[in-house]
Amino acid sequence: MASPSELPELPLETRCLPFALRQYAGFWLPEAVLARGLPAVRDRFAPRLDDVLLASFPKSGTTWLKALAFATARRAVHPPSDHDHPLRHGNPHDLVPFLEFGFTLAYDADALAAGLEALPSPRLLATHLPFSLLPGRLAAAGRIVYVCRHPKDALVSAWTFTRKASGSMGVDAESYSLREAVELFCAGRCVAGPQWRHVVEYWEASLSRRNVLFLRYEEMLRDPVGSLRTMAGFMGCAFSPGEEERGVPQAIVELCSLEKQKNVEASRDDGRTADGIKADAYFRKGVAADWSSHMTPEMGKMVDEAVEDGLRGSGFTF
Ligand code: A3P
Repeated sequence: MASPSELPELPLETRCLPFALRQYAGFWLPEAVLARGLPAVRDRFAPRLDDVLLASFPKSGTTWLKALAFATARRAVHPPSDHDHPLRHGNPHDLVPFLEFGFTLAYDADALAAGLEALPSPRLLATHLPFSLLPGRLAAAGRIVYVCRHPKDALVSAWTFTRKASGSMGVDAESYSLREAVELFCAGRCVAGPQWRHVVEYWEASLSRRNVLFLRYEEMLRDPVGSLRTMAGFMGCAFSPGEEERGVPQAIVELCSLEKQKNVEASRDDGRTADGIKADAYFRKGVAADWSSHMTPEMGKMVDEAVEDGLRGSGFTF
């Protein structure tokens, strides 16, 4: 792994907002994550066999996955009908922490490591790291739920997010055009890109390992309750016949719906996540194929061709 002293030698990309990226081990990752987050995840974080890691390429449905996983795993303590449920007050990102961003932003990495150590099992954690950069023990044994999304929608979602949230991240994205974002995406030069390589790594892992569940955002939209049942079973907390009868899975899906979540006080107006990011930027339309209301057909074709090239020989299709 690159040490901080080697970082300046790695290829640099500054046009992709909101982060300066460096290419490392085939992926473009925020410089600050490479300098602090990734080394700390490797050196200070002690994975447990029953950890549940929610993994994704950015803007692929991570926020939704966090809400669903939290509501499912903690339902004994916080039934979804609870008026005081944490998801009726807080943002999902504050309930399920990102490993590498947590360590990147932490003032005191030792305190963060101790805080993670103190969390009761099973811990719910999240990451945008590629599968090949996960700590070995976590990749081998933790339960990993990956959500994949169609590339053009993930791209448009990232671009709109950057423009909306950049102020809260101290970046000026006023003139950051979709065309520029498309060109960078096609070159793999985006956060955790190339997107298709990120997806294929987890997809291949899901084929060869029982500890990786591969979900698709579009399928979750089509059948949220069915997807939730699959996820709950995988996480080791399947819904009992009694819970099914009482409609618990449906209640969790309702609690975690985009409409409900975007109206939670902490995520409205100028609410911020614990990381200081404008919380409402995480909730937009939440539909499939919205790319066509933003991209020209020519941009769409550029992305399709880049993705097709990148996937050649992998056996994976979106
Ligand atoms: P759009 O920008 O296309 O609307 P991430 O959570 O990985 O950052 O991804 C953000 C995308 O997920 C956004 O997509 C956002 O609207 C959508 N999203 C957030 N919460 C959701 C929910 N509860 N249900 C469905 N989609 C959700």
